[in-house]
Amino acid sequence: MPVREKTFVNHFAQLFGESPQSVWESPGRVNLIGDHTDYQGGFALPIAVPYSTWIAARLRPDEEIHVYSDYLHDQRVDLSLNAVSQLAKNKPLSGLLGFVVGVWDLLGVNTGANILLMSTLPVASGLSSSASLSLALLAALSDLTEHPYDAKTLIRLARQVENVYLGVESGILDPLAIVRGQRDCAIFVDALAEEGQPVAFHYAQAGKLLFIIDTRTPRTLAGSGYHERVKETQRAQDILGIPCLRFASAHDIDQLTDPVLQARTRHIVRENQRVQSTIAAAERGDWNQVNQLLWDSHQSLSRDFMVSTPVLDETVAWLQDMGVGARMTGAGFGGSVVALGDSDQYTAIESVLTRRYREQRWTLPRVLTVPRPADGLHKVL
Ligand code: GLA
Repeated sequence: MPVREKTFVNHFAQLFGESPQSVWESPGRVNLIGDHTDYQGGFALPIAVPYSTWIAARLRPDEEIHVYSDYLHDQRVDLSLNAVSQLAKNKPLSGLLGFVVGVWDLLGVNTGANILLMSTLPVASGLSSSASLSLALLAALSDLTEHPYDAKTLIRLARQVENVYLGVESGILDPLAIVRGQRDCAIFVDALAEEGQPVAFHYAQAGKLLFIIDTRTPRTLAGSGYHERVKETQRAQDILGIPCLRFASAHDIDQLTDPVLQARTRHIVRENQRVQSTIAAAERGDWNQVNQLLWDSHQSLSRDFMVSTPVLDETVAWLQDMGVGARMTGAGFGGSVVALGDSDQYTAIESVLTRRYREQRWTLPRVLTVPRPADGLHKVL
């Protein structure tokens, strides 16, 4: 067993006095392109990242649930099955407790368990730490209770944990990317079909490196304009009389008289096209074209969809000045920028951004790298 896994399993044994029965790794995801398209049946191109949530679990013979977590500020959750059903009535819940109650209630698990969680995934940075956590809990518990779910069901359940128990109206993009993630591949998400197909994405072979710049401006979906955007796009869809904006055409955009709804629809129509163009450009190794598509996507999210912030806009502009393809990623309103640069650009990117952020007196960003796309949710033990 590799050292990292061994240390984790030993830590569980020290805490609970016995070894875990099930260990899973659930990665985070970064969306390369295709944002704010999933809740209108559209396309996206996420990648599973090598930053993840680890879970080790063992069922208990009684009705107690004990969860130790080395993140979310060392949160610890201790509760009984009885408390789960009581708490589940008081939705929406928050924090680690919300995830634990949500998963237990949703799966109808009727025994207790000991659980250890560990994460290398920055929280609230647009890398889907919540979907990663939900899936880690769902996968380990369904494994232990011998109710293994197929991928499609797991994806739906993870979404329910967030939507129903935590009151966050997230779409299918995050759980789909995490479950379907595959090494060296990006995942072509078709949100309407609830499907994700791996497409080869060998940027490393072309001397490229993927960067995630956590701008350290945390955001929460619940507190952002996310819901407002969902509603606006539903209004546009109703006016056009189509099942979702995935089917909107350039002609439909002109039919909308409200400039706000027109801009939102324009973003979705063009972003869906950009996802397909990105796959084609990467396939033929046209990385300049990929950069251009990333910059275009950012402009569209900033101007037409209005989900960017001055920090995200400036970060993208500084990277663009260096010739690095970049865009905000995820829901926006803060969070991270994804960038595709050359593999020797780490130091240059970090020093330029540090200098610029210092000048602005902003909290310094954190620059993470993804040398290659990682595997999706998988069982370790
Ligand atoms: C969040 C949501 C996703 C998706 C993105 C924007 O990450 O959870 O479903 O809507 O925002 O693309």
